Amino acid sequence: MFVKCFSIVIGCLFGITSLTLAQQKMSESPKLPVKLYTDNNDGLVVIGHRGASGYYPENTMAAFQAAYEMGAEMIELDVTLSKDGIPVVIHDLNLDRTTDGTGKVSHQNLKELRKLDAGSWFDVKFSSEQIPTLEEVLQFAAGKISLNIEIKPEAVTDSVHNGIEEKALELVNKYEMKHHVLFSSFDYRAIEHLKVLDVNISVALLYEKQQSKGKTLTQLVSHYTADAFNCSYRQYSKKWAEQAKKANIPVFIYTVNKERRMKKIIKRGASGIFTDKPDVLNRLVENMWKTN
Ligand code: G3P
Ligand code: MG
Repeated sequence: MFVKCFSIVIGCLFGITSLTLAQQKMSESPKLPVKLYTDNNDGLVVIGHRGASGYYPENTMAAFQAAYEMGAEMIELDVTLSKDGIPVVIHDLNLDRTTDGTGKVSHQNLKELRKLDAGSWFDVKFSSEQIPTLEEVLQFAAGKISLNIEIKPEAVTDSVHNGIEEKALELVNKYEMKHHVLFSSFDYRAIEHLKVLDVNISVALLYEKQQSKGKTLTQLVSHYTADAFNCSYRQYSKKWAEQAKKANIPVFIYTVNKERRMKKIIKRGASGIFTDKPDVLNRLVENMWKTN
C-alpha cells in the first residue's frame, strides 16, 4: 500500500515537473507566426521537411500524408512554376533526381509534368506518385495541418504581380489557409512581394548570405518586416539564438535528423525544427519533457 501511494506521489510530481517545463518553454517562446491545427503544446513546432521525406519520396502526397500521420504539426514543401505557370511542388530546378523526367521543371507544362513518376527513384512501390500541384496539397492540408510554403528562387522575378507569390497566395486564400501558412524563400524579393500583396501574411526570411549584406538577424527581420527567421542548423549560432531571443523572433531550423543535434537546437531556443523524420523528433520532444 505504502509503495503504491509512494509511486503515485512520485508519478504526480513527475507529471507536474514535466508540465511545468513545457509551460516554461511555451512562456519563453516567441509567439508563433502561424496557427497550428495540432499543437503538441510543447513549445516546439515539429515540421515534416518535404513531408516525411526520410521514409517516403520527398514532396509527394505520400510523404505529406505520412508526416501528418506521424504527428508533424507543420509540413514544409518547395513550390515552383510549370511552363504554363501553375504552382507545382518539387525541390530541384531539374526533374532528373526525383522523377523519371529530364531537364528543367519550368520547361514543361503541368500536363506533361503530371505524367512523370515522382516516386520510383525512392522505391518502386511509390511509382504512382506524381508531382503534386500546390492546390492539391492545400486541399489535403486545409483544416488538418499547417504548411510552410517555400517559394523556389528560380520562379521569382522582379514583378510583384502575376508571379508565383501572387498565385500561391490566391490558392492559400481559396482554401482559407491564410492563418495556417508560413511562406518562406531564399530569394528576399519573394518576401517583399508577399508583404506588398498582403501585409498580414506570415513570411519567414530563409537566410541567404549574399542578400543579407552583413546585417544582423534582427536587422534582417526588421528590414523585411518578416515574421520569422529560418536557417540551417550549421548557421544557428549562439549569437543568432541570443539575438532572436532578445527581439522575440521565432526561429525555425532545417534540416535536422540526428537526435543529439535536435536536442542541442531545442535547448538553444528554436521555435521549430524541420526534419525528414517527424516521428523521431516527436518522440524526442516527448521524452525531453518527461526526463528534464
Ligand atoms: O525551408 C527549409 C529548407 O527546406 C530549406 O532548404 O534546400 O531543403 O529547400 P531546402
Ligand atoms: Mg525547402
